[in-house]
Amino acid sequence: MDYRELGRTGVNISSLCLGTMTFGQQNSEAEGHAQMDYAFDRGINIFDASEIYPIPPRAETKGRTESIIGTWLAARNRRDKVLIATKVAGRGKMTWLRKDETATRQSPAQITEAVEASLKHLNTDYIDLYQLHWPDRPMRIFEGLDYLHLEGDSHPIHDILGALGKLVADGKVRFVGLSNETPWGTMSFLKAAEQHGLPRPVSIQNAYNFVNRSFEIGLSEISYREQVSLLAYSPLGQGYLSGKYEEGALPAGSRKALFDRLGRYEQGNGPKAISTYVALARRHGLDPAQMAIAFAVSRPFVTSTIIGATTMDQLKTDIAGGELKLSEAVLADIEQAHLDYPNPCP
Ligand SMILES: NC(=O)c1ccc[n+]([C@@H]2O[C@H](COP(=O)([O-])OP(=O)(O)OC[C@H]3O[C@@H](n4cnc5c(N)ncnc54)[C@H](OP(=O)(O)O)[C@@H]3O)[C@@H](O)[C@H]2O)c1
Repeated sequence: MDYRELGRTGVNISSLCLGTMTFGQQNSEAEGHAQMDYAFDRGINIFDASEIYPIPPRAETKGRTESIIGTWLAARNRRDKVLIATKVAGRGKMTWLRKDETATRQSPAQITEAVEASLKHLNTDYIDLYQLHWPDRPMRIFEGLDYLHLEGDSHPIHDILGALGKLVADGKVRFVGLSNETPWGTMSFLKAAEQHGLPRPVSIQNAYNFVNRSFEIGLSEISYREQVSLLAYSPLGQGYLSGKYEEGALPAGSRKALFDRLGRYEQGNGPKAISTYVALARRHGLDPAQMAIAFAVSRPFVTSTIIGATTMDQLKTDIAGGELKLSEAVLADIEQAHLDYPNPCP
């Protein structure tokens, strides 16, 4: 496992991060703990959650994922050896997250309410990385490559950062991060932090995989020049890039079989592109999932790649994938596939 600096914090995180959004839905507490133990023993020192997990988000299961991390922290006595990352929801309709709101928004009051609930679930006094899960601005997220302008009010960025700054000052949060952000949003947060003496976002958690490399269009430059670390999520395109759904297969217990909400990977040239990468890996004698994870880990602008697993076999394969070095021949074939099918699943 190698380690890279999180933003400009001086704190090093592992090049793989364990995502936990299956804990409390597809995975039981015991399975979640076993995954965390295995990951920790292999050198992973950062775990990613959200107040909305497990996925799919539901009122009946809210807080379960964070609570499973919380019982692990209590049982293992390793709080200072790991970083816990979680998130506050952006603009949306998951009103069951809050006591008395008609929409989720990143108002200072909602951020405070959310962080208190997360601290309780996580059974800890502080969150290492507190991320804005998606923006408070009206925007199209999780779909589409082009910017589509939507009118509507939003909380000023310096107010959102101000609320986060108070949490940092109170010792409840160490670092703040963004997620599902755009270049404009990221630079606006950096500018507001500088102008108002507020915490500078140290990271951005966006999707990054073979079929969605949109981060490279405008955001990777910001990661290089501003040291805003990319925490790359969905390196397997939610499982698609492992090849498990090739030729219409639908493995029992898989995310698609259970929830069928993976339309992002089923549109346009998505299926053709996915088959191309799966075939390319097999042609080179590689496991498709390991090739996909190794690629994300190898990108110089990626600080940590957030993997997710529902079985220990998957986890073992995926962590080993992070150690794999791809040959020039494989990288050249990947580049050609990217030219043939640029970002079909943004
Ligand atoms: N910020 C955000 O908006 C956001 C969005 C998504 C994810 N995330 C974070 O990123 C983490 C990872 O995201 P992700 O789960 O989408 O990552 P992913 O790596 O693209 O997909 C992981 C899923 O693929 C399947 N899988 C994993 N390894 C496999 C293997 N070797 N062979 C076959 N199938 C395999 C498993 O699902 P099945 O067993 O069900 O098939 C697993 O849960 C999440 O836990 C979360 O922390 C953040």
